Amino acid sequence: MSNSLETAVIPVAGFGTRFLPVTRAVPKPLLPVVDTPLIHRSVQEAVEAGFKRIVLVMSPGMEPIADYFSPKPALEAALEQSGKDDLLAQQHAIAGMADVTAVVQHEARGLGHAVLLARDEVGDAPFAVFLPDELLWGEKSAIQQVKELWERVGGNVFGVVEVPDQAVPALGIVAGEPVDANAWRVTGMVEKPLLDEAPSNLAIVGPYILTPAIFDSIEATAPGAIGEIQITDPIAARIDAEGVHARILHGIRIDAGTPAGLLAANIFEARRNSSLYERAMQILDDAEQSRE
Ligand code: UTP
Repeated sequence: MSNSLETAVIPVAGFGTRFLPVTRAVPKPLLPVVDTPLIHRSVQEAVEAGFKRIVLVMSPGMEPIADYFSPKPALEAALEQSGKDDLLAQQHAIAGMADVTAVVQHEARGLGHAVLLARDEVGDAPFAVFLPDELLWGEKSAIQQVKELWERVGGNVFGVVEVPDQAVPALGIVAGEPVDANAWRVTGMVEKPLLDEAPSNLAIVGPYILTPAIFDSIEATAPGAIGEIQITDPIAARIDAEGVHARILHGIRIDAGTPAGLLAANIFEARRNSSLYERAMQILDDAEQSRE
């Protein structure tokens, strides 16, 4: 097995049911925070953390996601002609951002199944899995934090966040013991535990760095109640083999996988850019005042 970490897998083939109706036509990863699609942010964070290859796992019809990263000659020519150099440089940067390839998941059979489909692209090397809905604003990106722990401990590592009691029964929760202020050695993982039975308040949010042995564990995992193969059980199956660690992520985390979450992410991002927020508030004030 090679030890270099070069490939980031981004599974985006789910139906995005919580965003219907927009996801009938627009894949969820292309929904924006202000003007930047969720997928752009994931790929940028991957590249900044040193990943060289991006493998998108997408469903048929999601070509616009891969197309986002290809050159746009007509647009670039128009921007050049009109002297919009900043915008032109931005378009070149997006098209040159990363080596993006795609594999197709024909049926949405779960996150674990989607990751398994990237096996040939990943090969016999450790790799990362990013979920574009998971947003973190911190001094360091989520993948950077996970990678720093992985460089120390190896094996399988993922990001967790501390959540309030009421959120626990809806999430994947880890059991284990702290190894320092920011990291846990994981001894078990439970999906959606009853609050009384939850081993901690640390919820699994990713990103993940996994060993290629995970592919055999995914293959050996039986589908759950609705026929989906999740990623939690295969990771738990690696605890004794290569070890599993959790990195407690520092930063402000927003799950943008629901309309309320994405709206919150937009408001949060706009507030960081105070002139944008002030302009938006002005538009709202003006609209209120002009009410007949
Ligand atoms: P989610 O559970 O968020 O599902 O999947 P979803 O389809 O995106 O959204 P909802 O729940 O229907 O509203 C977590 C990630 O795993 C991908 C999704 O695209 C998302 O990025 N996924 C999920 C797949 O690639 N394939 C699957 O079969 C399931």
